[in-house]
Amino acid sequence: MSTLQTPTTPRFSFPQTKTPSRLAFGAAKLGAFWQRGDREQRRAFEEALRLGLNLIDTADVYARGLSERLIGQILGSKRNEVILCTKAGQIKTPWAALSAARSEPKQAARHLRAAVPGRTPKDPSLVPRCFDSRYLIGALEGSLRRLRTDHVEIFLLHSPNAQDIAHGAWRNAAQSLLAAGKILHFGISCDDQAAAQEALAHETVAFLELPVNALSPQFDDVIRTAGERGVGVLARSPFDGGRVSRLARSLPSENPEDVLAVLLRSVTDRPEIISTIVGMRTTEQLERNLALQARPLDEATRLRLLNTVQKLAESKLS
Ligand SMILES: NC(=O)c1ccc[n+]([C@@H]2O[C@H](COP(=O)([O-])OP(=O)(O)OC[C@H]3O[C@@H](n4cnc5c(N)ncnc54)[C@H](OP(=O)(O)O)[C@@H]3O)[C@@H](O)[C@H]2O)c1
Repeated sequence: MSTLQTPTTPRFSFPQTKTPSRLAFGAAKLGAFWQRGDREQRRAFEEALRLGLNLIDTADVYARGLSERLIGQILGSKRNEVILCTKAGQIKTPWAALSAARSEPKQAARHLRAAVPGRTPKDPSLVPRCFDSRYLIGALEGSLRRLRTDHVEIFLLHSPNAQDIAHGAWRNAAQSLLAAGKILHFGISCDDQAAAQEALAHETVAFLELPVNALSPQFDDVIRTAGERGVGVLARSPFDGGRVSRLARSLPSENPEDVLAVLLRSVTDRPEIISTIVGMRTTEQLERNLALQARPLDEATRLRLLNTVQKLAESKLS
């Protein structure tokens, strides 16, 4: 006897003209001339828009605000054709530090230290955060100004830990920004399983952004539960920041395009994943990733290559 499953109502919706593209443009380095993210990435972004990538992932801290500024400038009249996803909560600039210190006076010293030039920690997990509602509302207003828009489709907390999420200081911000129409969906970008599990306990959360790649099954349960609850999953970093794509080149007997296609599509083809955010530094990488999406791959080749790359990754890690 088969059981009838009630379809879950998604917690998110977009007009048909804005169905999210399978690949999304990760704009972490856009505008960061000190990280080779200036001219070439700008061209890649313009080309991505032309080729139909309509979901753009940015954050107030990316390239210290230059990412959002360039997106706003380049989009111009195309603003209404895209889905803008931005984030707040990481403290990396003097403005953010002062604003966070005002919102959380007890943490003021910690926040203000982050404003000292050259003192921002290199390790992203050590960057100070603030998820207080007053701070988040101010941060979103700044993002809207830089993006030259009056709303974003998705607003995410930027990498809180499970305790930050459970504490709930962000709740009023999420509710009031949704009510004012300044954000159309609220969500949380999570770096670990505990944070993602906690995020799933909150009804306001319509989207999770998670690091997902072919070699790490750590978010499989979370992705399944998100699908069951109607929460949209944005997968990020399918190449693990370039580490996974470099593995593809270290298999001389295999066609690197086949290997890359397997790695990318093991993320993008998952039905619960609404869109996959890839960091594309160059137009060539953009065109290559679009071609990988369409590359014919039979199941036997897919399984063999996945197995080979997994073994290689394990041997490199051990
Ligand atoms: N906490 C968060 O919310 C968070 C954290 C990290 C990232 N993100 C988002 O996710 C986006 C992507 O992150 P990411 O750039 O770290 O990870 P990624 O997408 O896994 O890696 C991007 C890197 O993969 C390589 N690559 C891309 N396409 C390629 C291709 N066709 N062939 C060979 N190599 C290719 C490039 O490396 P090379 O540059 O070495 O060529 C590129 O810089 C960011 O832009 C950001 O929007 C969010």
